[in-house]
Amino acid sequence: MTHMPRFIQLHHSNAEQIQTELLEGLATPQAHISPKYLYDELGSKLFEAITCIPEYYPTRVEASIFKAQAKALADLVPKGASLIDLGAGNCQKAANLFNVFQPARYVAVDISVAFLKGALECLQRQFPDMDMAGVGMDFSTQLQLPSELGLSPGDARVLFYPGSSIGNFTPSEALAFLKQVHACCAVNKHGGLLIGVDLVKDPRVLQAAYDDALGVTAAFNRNLLLHLNTLIGSDFKVADWAHVGLYNTDQSRIEMHLEAVREVTVTWPQGSRRFKAGERIHTENSYKWTLNGFSQLLQDAGFQQATLLTDPQQQFAVCWAPV
Ligand code: AVI
Repeated sequence: MTHMPRFIQLHHSNAEQIQTELLEGLATPQAHISPKYLYDELGSKLFEAITCIPEYYPTRVEASIFKAQAKALADLVPKGASLIDLGAGNCQKAANLFNVFQPARYVAVDISVAFLKGALECLQRQFPDMDMAGVGMDFSTQLQLPSELGLSPGDARVLFYPGSSIGNFTPSEALAFLKQVHACCAVNKHGGLLIGVDLVKDPRVLQAAYDDALGVTAAFNRNLLLHLNTLIGSDFKVADWAHVGLYNTDQSRIEMHLEAVREVTVTWPQGSRRFKAGERIHTENSYKWTLNGFSQLLQDAGFQQATLLTDPQQQFAVCWAPV
């Protein structure tokens, strides 16, 4: 039977709520904006460009692990499962693994089904027998799959969360999120989580990955200001702000900030703020984990002993955590 992908949109953005959140973040003494606002249309394209630059190793190294460890993964991950792809985007990472895992069903999850439509329709033509669905939801706040998907407790669920997006949560947020992921796949005893995580390494390698010579990461970070102008009607000028990407050794995390290069006053319809030269807006954290630390985190979230597969230099890990 030839299937057609189904689409279910659950998330609806609330402009008032977004404005309140952004204005609060700008008003606090240490101004901050959630990294989710880095991904407007241009931001998403700039992030794709980041994954191609020489210094940004995570995407390349993760792909090399999936390739080199395809046989090991085929032995670990159950065949015929429902593959649930969190933050699926163009669905390519999961699609590359279809031949290895042979899922019966593919569920692509992202904030908006509009992002998923083209990619999923194209995939369905390549895999006409697979049941496919696209779900638009904000899984970072609550991970509850819609009953319309028709997933039954008899179906093993493999949750897929590649790219080290887990690093953009604080450790306590990551634990809370992974507990939800565990609850979602524990409905069947053969389920589990396949997740990519970036590892602690030489700070110079990390720093270069988040402050590349071409300035692509700088453009990605500074584009947030243009997105803010659209969302709250502010008058940020990109030229007034510099990209800062630094490794905080104590916290094992990369921090991205936007730093005022001179004294600037930014105005929006409900108010304004003066930033001194050198004052920063914190825009992203990207936590790096040790193998032991991440294993423990998965266990604390309720998973059984995970298998962690790495590249020869132990830059990145792909982990299979059974329920
Ligand atoms: C999406 N996320 C895993 C990226 C990261 O490495 O933390 C986002 C990113 N920020 C700057 N470069 C890439």
